[in-house]
Amino acid sequence: QQVLTQNGFIDKNDLYYPFEERGLQFGDGIYEVIRIYHGKYYLLNEHVERLYRSAESLKLKLPFQKSEMYVYLDELLEINQISSDAKVYLQATRGSAPRDHVFPDADANLYAYAQDLARPLDKLENGVATITRPDIRWQNCYIKSLNLLPNVMMKQEAKEHGCFETILHRDNVVTECSSSNAYIVKDGTIYTHPETNNILHGCVRLRVKKLVKDLNIPFKEEAFTLSQLHDADEVFLSSSTAEVMPITKVDDTVIQDGTPGKITKAIQQAYEKDAG
Ligand code: PDD
Repeated sequence: QQVLTQNGFIDKNDLYYPFEERGLQFGDGIYEVIRIYHGKYYLLNEHVERLYRSAESLKLKLPFQKSEMYVYLDELLEINQISSDAKVYLQATRGSAPRDHVFPDADANLYAYAQDLARPLDKLENGVATITRPDIRWQNCYIKSLNLLPNVMMKQEAKEHGCFETILHRDNVVTECSSSNAYIVKDGTIYTHPETNNILHGCVRLRVKKLVKDLNIPFKEEAFTLSQLHDADEVFLSSSTAEVMPITKVDDTVIQDGTPGKITKAIQQAYEKDAG
């Protein structure tokens, strides 16, 4: 398997890092997870744009210009002969240097690799259960940073409750989930948290916004509360790996009859068409 690095492509088995890697010691870096359907990137521009926005927010200088990044990411799929459903994981850190909180005089480290990833068809059809927890993350969740400890803790807690995701709230206002964006449907209107610093500006969220506009379904970027969540007609989440995923249970509350809602299904259909 060939991995893209700041120095070009190298074999996975030849990829080593010094122990003083800022990604490891400080979580001082950013990442992207990009979806691939039938060997082709989906929402690539959106992911690359967000990567550069995250880098700028952290004053992290990426090793490539944007235009070079596109060329290398295409090469990554070609070299590894990716033709199926897959994902690319890309991360960039502030480099390797003797440990010091202050920025080092080092070049960024970057790697990106492709991995097969099947669509979660069973969950997409039947929906998933969730729990709710306080959003204990920092104030800059729009940055796709490597610091995922709260997200990891909350996702694990979901799993321990037999659930797929944890829906997060700040003072009873729902922000998003541990690794996806959250939505409700009430009286035919979709609600989701606005693109503030308190959520990751999801690439699929952006596409959902466009798809529902084409479907003439009202879409309000207005935060909703925990009680609105439990009282919703439909609930769903979105991410590059989970797609548009129906939520049929929130804590002990079964949403309506416990099956995916009509509007959620309509968006799923539009998404499938869009993703080809
Ligand atoms: N997670 N919110 C959070 C906190 C996320 O980590 C993600 C993505 C999303 C959805 O973003 P997008 O639609 O661009 O995938 C929302 C990725 C998939 C991950 O960490 O694995």
